[in-house]
Amino acid sequence: MPLPVSLWPRPAVVCGIRRPSSASRFAGISDAYTRQFLTPRGVAGQTTSWLREPTVLLPAAMRIRETFPEGMPADNPIRVYAASDGSDAWSLAHALRLTGLLHPDSKPMTAYPIDASDLHPGRVAVAQEGYVEVFDRELELADQAVQAFAQQNDAPDPKAWHNRAVFSQAVSIPIPLAGILNAYGLPFRQPEHQWYRVSDALREPVTFREADIEADLQANPLPQDGPSVVLFRNVWGYMDKEDPQKCQRVARLLGQQMAPGSLLVTGKLEAPLPSEVALAASRMAKQLAFLAAQRLFPGVSQAQMEAALGEFSPGDLPKHRLDVPALLRQEGFEPVFEVPRRSVTGHDYEGQLWIKQ
Ligand SMILES: C[S@@+](CC[C@H](N)C(=O)[O-])C[C@H]1O[C@@H](n2cnc3c(N)ncnc32)[C@H](O)[C@@H]1O
Repeated sequence: MPLPVSLWPRPAVVCGIRRPSSASRFAGISDAYTRQFLTPRGVAGQTTSWLREPTVLLPAAMRIRETFPEGMPADNPIRVYAASDGSDAWSLAHALRLTGLLHPDSKPMTAYPIDASDLHPGRVAVAQEGYVEVFDRELELADQAVQAFAQQNDAPDPKAWHNRAVFSQAVSIPIPLAGILNAYGLPFRQPEHQWYRVSDALREPVTFREADIEADLQANPLPQDGPSVVLFRNVWGYMDKEDPQKCQRVARLLGQQMAPGSLLVTGKLEAPLPSEVALAASRMAKQLAFLAAQRLFPGVSQAQMEAALGEFSPGDLPKHRLDVPALLRQEGFEPVFEVPRRSVTGHDYEGQLWIKQ
């Protein structure tokens, strides 16, 4: 049985929570779990999913293969920070396996070692055992995403593009896992989720350890004699709440340590607001302003209000204090995709794949 809530271990980090993105509705660690158990305890949200943001992850895997056609040396593994339950790291290994199918002479995914880490010791301990808890719908969406990508890229064998092979059969909670979940106060099973053992093939290139990105970059700087690859997705907002200067310091460390040609992957939570969302938000704000003005000045017409507010442009919206794209540009990173790309789930993913100049 899990520990009573009052006996749960103290969270490793206490910081504020930003509302998880809508894309995380099909999350390996669900929004519901985050809201119910983590938010009230001030623990950084761990919402994640299998193959999260595939329209970024799959092109990132292609770009990694292009940059390192012979694979990556063992002393310069891909670093996946904030890997949560491991989904981010195993999904990248899977994306590397799939993109290898596009060219017959591609190196196997094992030529791309992944050094995965997270701040939360419980998540790391579970991932080290090689288990992940996923949701059927999450796998369906991931299948749709890889199939769409295979089609766009004229994959020679489209039937090979799916996610099923990465999980060995579903399991009930295995004994070593039960002990870990209990010790860290993690749920034994989230509603509608199922535990799976990650396939041996996918686990082979990935190792897990506990790390705070800032402390780790200071203690283990990236090799500077050639390009490196770092994933740090959907976490900057949590870090910002924890310490408002930390995002700046981490961006600076990445900028100093990542050699020209290095690849950095950030998440949708860090991307600029898509312009149509900004536009809709502004229209709503205008409408609310109009309703408020009507109460204060009952005679005011919508036209007068429009004239007073003037023409809207997305640049007029007040900016959130944390602007990750601006921080990264300042440290010498440029986005790979200047033109927004539309994902299978209908969102734009602009400014998530960065190259160090
Ligand atoms: C919302 S999850 C995102 C997980 C995954 N990257 C993704 O996009 O699905 C945020 C994760 O960041 C981790 N985290 C928070 N602050 C961190 C830090 N300073 N260094 C490393 N990981 C951190 C949390 O433990 C949590 O697992």
